[in-house]
Amino acid sequence: MSGLIVKGLIVTGTDTGIGKTVFAAGLVGALAQAHGAARYWKPVQAGLEGESDSEAVARLAPAARVYPEAYRLTTPASPHLAARIDGVVIAPERLVPPTGDGPLVIEGAGGALVPLTETLLYADLFAHWGLPVVVVTHTSLGTINHSLLTIEALRARGLAVAGIAFVGEEHAENERIIPLLSGVRRLGRLPHLAPLNAASLAAAMADFDLAGLV
Ligand SMILES: Nc1ncnc2c1ncn2[C@@H]1O[C@H](COP(=O)(O)OP(=O)(O)OP(=O)(O)O)[C@@H](O)[C@H]1O
Ligand SMILES: [Mg+2]
Repeated sequence: MSGLIVKGLIVTGTDTGIGKTVFAAGLVGALAQAHGAARYWKPVQAGLEGESDSEAVARLAPAARVYPEAYRLTTPASPHLAARIDGVVIAPERLVPPTGDGPLVIEGAGGALVPLTETLLYADLFAHWGLPVVVVTHTSLGTINHSLLTIEALRARGLAVAGIAFVGEEHAENERIIPLLSGVRRLGRLPHLAPLNAASLAAAMADFDLAGLV
């Protein structure tokens, strides 16, 4: 792994399937508009059936530059297991954020403490990169615990948690108490979008406060 020379944000979440890719697409689209260019990178894709996260971002944020993944693993599982099944060893030194014009949005897989290898968690890799992290979380019952645990684990590694992005139905109290207890800024909330496309996502992102984020 080499030192960081990139401006950007890491997007993690409280769980798999929480909405990281949709939010990351909204974020990179908004950053492309604000900065003239923005980029997305999913270092490890585990699961190749259907649309990949990178393909979803390319569709939902057409202005973004999307880099190829460092690893594309067949099985939808934790990367450490998906790699073992494919007979691949994930080499951390290959997981280097790409340089280029505009801020970079990097998406992990699953949550912050998901393993890439038997000795490396995503949160440790994030700490090596040293970029601020945005936590994507749900609004419903259980989110206080999931969100605060995730923020603690990131901070325990010295990471700056730059914001919380909620996904789901409005829940005023959860959206108030999590930022209050953690001291992390609420960036906004993505409601369930139907249809979900580049236009509806960009419109929903207009309600986010992204000022000074990168
Ligand atoms: N705001 C939303 N409106 C409508 N559908 C959504 C929204 N957010 C997420 N989804 C849908 O929910 C599913 C999971 O979302 P997403 O792929 O963003 O999760 P993820 O956290 O990136 O998952 P993974 O851990 O696999 O990377 C997808 O089918 C996505 O299209
Ligand atoms: Mg994803």
